[in-house]
Amino acid sequence: MINEYDVVVIGGGIAGLYTALTAVENAKVAVISKVHVTRSHSVAAQGGIAASLGNEEEDHWEWHMYDTVKGSDYLADQNAAEILAKDAPNAIYTLEHMGVPFSRNAESKIEQRRFGGHTKNFGEAPVKRACYISDRTGRAIMDALYDRCLQKGVAMHNEVFIQQLLFALNNCCGAAGYDLATGKPQVFHAKAVVLATGGCGKIYKTTSNGFASTGDGFALALDALLPLEDMEFVQFHPTGIYGLGILISEAARAEGGVLRNGLGERFMERYAPTLKDLAPRDIISRAILKEISESKGVDGKDYVYLDLRGIGKESLNHKLPEITSFIKTYLGLDPSETQIPVAPTCHYMMGGIPTDVDGHVLADKAGPILPGLYAAGECACVSVHGANRLGCNSLIDLVIFGRRTGLSILKEIRTRICQPLPVQAESIVIDKINSLLESHGNERVAVLRESLQCLMTEECSVYRNGQTLEHALAQIHLLKKRLPNVGLTSKSRIFNYELQEALELNNMLRVAEVTVYSALMRRESRGAHFRSDYPNRNDEEWLKHTFVDETPTGLKENYKPLASGRFAPEKRRY
Ligand code: FUM
Repeated sequence: MINEYDVVVIGGGIAGLYTALTAVENAKVAVISKVHVTRSHSVAAQGGIAASLGNEEEDHWEWHMYDTVKGSDYLADQNAAEILAKDAPNAIYTLEHMGVPFSRNAESKIEQRRFGGHTKNFGEAPVKRACYISDRTGRAIMDALYDRCLQKGVAMHNEVFIQQLLFALNNCCGAAGYDLATGKPQVFHAKAVVLATGGCGKIYKTTSNGFASTGDGFALALDALLPLEDMEFVQFHPTGIYGLGILISEAARAEGGVLRNGLGERFMERYAPTLKDLAPRDIISRAILKEISESKGVDGKDYVYLDLRGIGKESLNHKLPEITSFIKTYLGLDPSETQIPVAPTCHYMMGGIPTDVDGHVLADKAGPILPGLYAAGECACVSVHGANRLGCNSLIDLVIFGRRTGLSILKEIRTRICQPLPVQAESIVIDKINSLLESHGNERVAVLRESLQCLMTEECSVYRNGQTLEHALAQIHLLKKRLPNVGLTSKSRIFNYELQEALELNNMLRVAEVTVYSALMRRESRGAHFRSDYPNRNDEEWLKHTFVDETPTGLKENYKPLASGRFAPEKRRY
């Protein structure tokens, strides 16, 4: 079936919906999602969205920009960081006017709380910059955007899994996939295609990401012979529920929670004397693992405690209802009475598909844009977060760069001719599905996926080194060789999850390979990328972005200078 639109957005999280909502003002727009749109991973965002409104105390966009650049360990492109910090307050008021029910302070202004790495006066002390809706911030923004999109006539194609971007005369002119419910191919023909497919936390065993975060957009870009940028920078959120990885928002520490080691010590005082438990995530994740490696985990185990008892029952229920219920549901504990076992969990990819600040996908490090193709949200690397993202800067990134992407599309499709679809559009998908359904291979998806997830968790995690990375890369090559021998136990075309997971596994393996390779090539430590064999940041050689391409002879790296700006690199002290 061929679906005709002006614009198709692949991915229905906040970035995708914001792009769609902006473009639909003057175009026929569809959102295509592998899940039901309202179940996109953006709904899992808890603690807040950053903007220097100054509702609780003095704040300025320049302070926000400084924190973003310093938090990124100076790898953020400063033009992007400036846009983010400067535009954030207006973006919040626009959301408010769309009906997002922000929590309010005593003066009925949008309430703000502290968050990791956000400071006043260029690093002096924590500042209240995170706007929020209790601890359901992503859910509330998604609901408002989804309603608006429906009202304005954005078409929603739920449960369609895109397999291929389509090109004609070097223009992206559509995408092809299949309907999960029927197994039938679906082709989309458009003047503009947007990748807004989120991240790939599922390449790790322990992650805060939903099941759908399998790096599909990254793999679509690689298939289109595009590079991925800065994939070595993988963020681990310090407070995942131990063993499960489910997120306990940083908001819990903003509201007074503290981390304690097995001796009951508030250890962050030693690692970040000014910001303590609200230091950036890379610093806290490393501190937790250091405590554990020094036998100061709880009862000698590999977790520490998050102590929320000081917040009190009433505030927990009022300000943190979601995490309070998670802790009860998954651990059977009452956080007002009992400390919570936590450990770092894979949370966010700072790298992704290279774009400029207007959502255009860059074909290579020299920066020619690929006409018709755009990317926004976690799958894009603008690069505004550099080597480490600050908490709450993700939601504001989705809104600001989602909108800018929609605006560029609106401007550009006026004069863009819709190129004819390549003739083999449907057959690419049919062949891919049939070859899996007809395979008699004896490898199982779940076995290969588990091996990959364990490997990534053991060898390319918060700490890495050349030896573990070399080993991980060799193991991924072996897993990739086993992939063509995957056989499915179910041959059905109707909601065949095994089929879907086999296709996702292919994406995960390719993204994991690029991640490990990028990490191996960067011989320094910066932000979330900590090499124990190169423990120092090396600005002379490595103040540059990694670009990795899949080539017929294997992966190939290139480097691009970053857009520097007003804030020169300093030692990061918190
Ligand atoms: O901790 C959190 O609520 C996560 C926020 C974020 O990743 O921005």
